[in-house]
Amino acid sequence: MPSSSRHPEIGPDEDEQAGRFERLEDSKARVALSSESPARTLSIGALLGSLVPPGTVFSLEGGLGVGKTLLAKGICAGLGVSDEVLSPSFILVEEYRGVLPVFHFDLYRLEKVHDVAGIGLFDAVDGRAVVIVEWGDRLREGMLDVDVRVVMRITGPEHREIAVEACRTLLAALERGM
Ligand SMILES: Nc1ncnc2c1ncn2[C@@H]1O[C@H](COP(=O)(O)OP(=O)(O)O)[C@@H](O)[C@H]1O
Ligand SMILES: [Mg+2]
Repeated sequence: MPSSSRHPEIGPDEDEQAGRFERLEDSKARVALSSESPARTLSIGALLGSLVPPGTVFSLEGGLGVGKTLLAKGICAGLGVSDEVLSPSFILVEEYRGVLPVFHFDLYRLEKVHDVAGIGLFDAVDGRAVVIVEWGDRLREGMLDVDVRVVMRITGPEHREIAVEACRTLLAALERGM
């Protein structure tokens, strides 16, 4: 992910502080957050949306009802989208305008993975728009360059684990904002 022009305070020294994250390849790391309510998931999404640079591609993963759409709503709110964010399940993509263009895809009803080109996924990735893909794990390895992968898990009626995989600078900023 390119360094954030919207948040110049995020510098390389954050990597030191981020030493506690579980390290992954490509200078990425993982942090597991927990949410105890839908409102908390929304606010975690809003924080993420407020921190990411232009062109960020999100993959939101986890089963039906885990909270992907709710997290996407939060991300949109954090990006200054004022329209109502709905689940794009039936039409597969919605476009919003906040401080940046935002494309919200939902691949759940996509019949064949190769149909993603037809719904404009690759065109949406232009280095400026923020692209949020629910069910991004339906894509094949290498089809999409994902900057922030979020894997959600139901841990109780109102509890969710939200594991965020991203560059360490973003994770450090996320933790500071929590
Ligand atoms: N902590 C939580 N975070 C997110 N959703 C939660 C939480 N607790 C309960 N829920 C409920 O789970 C459902 C999540 O729905 P949705 O976001 O549409 O899921 P998905 O898009 O993953 O299918 C909502 O009804 C929401 O109220
Ligand atoms: Mg959904």
